[in-house]
Amino acid sequence: MNHVLAPAASASLIRSEVAGLPRYDPGADPDEVAALSGARQVIKLSNNESPFGVSPAVAEAVRLSLADGVSRYPDPTGKRLADAIGKSLDVPAGRVVLGNGSENILELLCQAVLDPGDLVVTQAPGFSLHETFPRVMGARVEKVPVTAGFGFDADAWRDALAAGPKLVFLANPCNPTGAVVSAGQLEHVVAAAPRSALLVLDEAYGEFARPDPEYPDGLEALRGLDRPWIVLRTFSKAYGLAGVRVGYGIASDAALVEALDRVRTPYNVNRPAQDAAIAALGDHEHLADTVRRTGLEIARVTGRLRGAGLGVVPSSTNFLFIDTGCRSDRVARELHRAGIIVKAWREPGYENYIRASLSTPEENDVFVRCLTEICAKDKP
Ligand SMILES: Cc1ncc(COP(=O)(O)O)c(C=O)c1O
Repeated sequence: MNHVLAPAASASLIRSEVAGLPRYDPGADPDEVAALSGARQVIKLSNNESPFGVSPAVAEAVRLSLADGVSRYPDPTGKRLADAIGKSLDVPAGRVVLGNGSENILELLCQAVLDPGDLVVTQAPGFSLHETFPRVMGARVEKVPVTAGFGFDADAWRDALAAGPKLVFLANPCNPTGAVVSAGQLEHVVAAAPRSALLVLDEAYGEFARPDPEYPDGLEALRGLDRPWIVLRTFSKAYGLAGVRVGYGIASDAALVEALDRVRTPYNVNRPAQDAAIAALGDHEHLADTVRRTGLEIARVTGRLRGAGLGVVPSSTNFLFIDTGCRSDRVARELHRAGIIVKAWREPGYENYIRASLSTPEENDVFVRCLTEICAKDKP
């Protein structure tokens, strides 16, 4: 007997807000690209991961964590990790929230704060989950575009914030452009947002941007403010821990953390992830080395692509937003045939752009060669 239900049986159960949502686009599947290209090793530049691996201390911490047995639940409060983060940033542990990746905290914030019809303001182009999670809650999302030169549009931000959002998502640096919001621009957003609004400063790529003199430390900028805010950071990018899923937030007050505790699944950060993050946090040298090597590659690859006539947005992150001059989904498909995965950007107005994370110098050279060849074919 066939027990598979027809899709129509469940379709009527799905909330209308959910039915209309796009699925998250993680980029092409490496196994499929390997099969398509015949490449022994696919070059994956689609998820802004670190090519420089993790600190040796992380590998050892995960080994010990697993050896100690995974038959017990992890600490639901993540106390040791929250303490370590709090100590490193001079913040009480009660104002630290942990997530199964920082995207988990984005989701929890929406669940805890948003009612149907509430307004959320964020950036365009931007990180898709800044729009998806509010929409799951039935909120409206207003996206503030960058200027033609990928800069911060102060007037557009002022106007959008005047409409009274309950929540503001600002990524600094921005994904996908890689651009930073300066201290003055951040102050502008803070001043223009309603005092009751929750300001969410998403610093997923902050470690890469720290050497940029324009880049403000968001925590230092918001720390003294008497209004709701949270700064989100992650171990997925510069620390190289994307696979174990751990991110954190520093909140304006313990009550916000307690609200998130009420909505989150109790054991949202697994034990190897907690142990790995503690070890990662302690290895300053590995972090500094990753940031330094990434910066060198960003400068080198930007120069080479520009030299080949491609438009590249100046980036303070580990990825580049590149104007290919033609439809980026076609460019991405051709790159797949060469065994390289990038993200073709799909937001309106950016259909010629790809976002490519940088990898090792060797892999980046292959990427630059293939991309410039593909784009040269399209030139008259
Ligand atoms: C701007 C931004 N915020 C948050 C995240 C979520 O990262 P994670 O959940 O791995 O911490 C990402 C991931 O790509 C991102 O680009």
